[in-house]
Amino acid sequence: MTQNLRRPPRALQDPYPVSRAKPTVSTSADLLTTSRINRFHLRAQSGSVSGSESGSVSDLRPANNLWPDALNRQFSADDMCRAQQEIQQWDGYAATSLESLSQVAATAGVRQLWYKDESTRFGLGSFKALGGAYAVMHYLADLLSEQTGTAISMASVRAGEHKAALSSVTVTSATDGNHGRSVAWGARMAGVNCTIFIHRDVSSAREQAMASLGATVVRIDGDYDESVHHCAAVAKENNWQVISDTSYEGYRDIPRQVMAGYTVMVDEILNQTDELPTHVFIQAGVGGLAASIAAAFWQRTGHDCPAFIVVESDYADCLHQSFIQGKPVDVKIQQETMMAGLSCGEVSLLAFDILSSCVRASVTIDDTAVPDAMRMMAMGQACNKKLEAGECAVPGIIALLGVSHNAEYRAQLGLTDESRVLVFGCEGATDPDLYHAIVGDIS
Ligand SMILES: Cc1ncc(COP(=O)(O)O)c(C=O)c1O
Repeated sequence: MTQNLRRPPRALQDPYPVSRAKPTVSTSADLLTTSRINRFHLRAQSGSVSGSESGSVSDLRPANNLWPDALNRQFSADDMCRAQQEIQQWDGYAATSLESLSQVAATAGVRQLWYKDESTRFGLGSFKALGGAYAVMHYLADLLSEQTGTAISMASVRAGEHKAALSSVTVTSATDGNHGRSVAWGARMAGVNCTIFIHRDVSSAREQAMASLGATVVRIDGDYDESVHHCAAVAKENNWQVISDTSYEGYRDIPRQVMAGYTVMVDEILNQTDELPTHVFIQAGVGGLAASIAAAFWQRTGHDCPAFIVVESDYADCLHQSFIQGKPVDVKIQQETMMAGLSCGEVSLLAFDILSSCVRASVTIDDTAVPDAMRMMAMGQACNKKLEAGECAVPGIIALLGVSHNAEYRAQLGLTDESRVLVFGCEGATDPDLYHAIVGDIS
């Protein structure tokens, strides 16, 4: 059973407490004044990778800097390729845009800042659409292949060719929003039953979004952990399949497929730019997103692989602490960040195996600059185009600005005026009321 400690933001119950100051800044120069790094950990840069299934793959890139066999055995190029080929066949598939945030780049003193805008992904509002739904499809094709003894394709599942055989299957997950929405959508695409467990603080807008995709949504009177435990117990009792985005001892295959789905973003980026990024600032909750992006870049670009800087909330820095200690460690969430998707106290083991092998540095930020950054994006002050950036979309920008005017950090990360930086706008207004309450009037 997963021990993931992803928790809800308090702000969800009272969508942006009135006591909290509204954002007043709107330009990247203003944002510089509120963007700060609270913890910074630089990791050593050479070493070797040794494979393990226990979360203890030891550190750092091999001398030749190629995607190592040890990691390929855990998360293969084939996993990534298969997911990319499948997802790019789905109805409504379109590459999300890669924006150039020229004004923020100038403020940060770098040559280029790309922003992968996931707010439009499959109409679900976040990159999560790629992961849970793909894992559902992959699981069902495997299940049917096992049952029939012949290879059943995901395309045939999507085409509804196995409706009868799948009519009794139920997939399930506990969620604080985006992942559950993806699982519910995948279940609808495949024509299987779906029950999603949410906790007492998940907003009704997020609940509605999942119900409108056909899922049975069960709200439990407890917190996120309790919803996870409840989901696992009910799944066991009813023989349902749990589709989780975090891996733990004995549960790696489904999170691997979730991560494979996320690698579509890297495939798109490599088609959208002629130049590679030199640095990627990537936000993390359990680490699945960061690990999938790092793995796909490393696998595709080898020697030219960018440097990865993991960005977490001060309140949920499980990867940062794990890097310092050299093994996966849990942190207790004492306070909720408004970046709800990042509020996780325990790292995904598969993600840690990959990230501990390639991350250059980890940093933490607080919530202060989040509303300001969202407003700057909404007002078209980052690149002369209005961009809908949700709470989890802006940590990369904040962290870049936070390090950019610190000479020591810049030197340690090799950040110069020639650097090309990539960040991920992971979500749009996934809870529209909350989003509008945060950014305020942007007319
Ligand atoms: C919008 C958004 N961004 C980032 C993340 C973090 O991803 P991960 O938990 O894979 O690190 C999440 C997780 O739910 C999310 O919903």
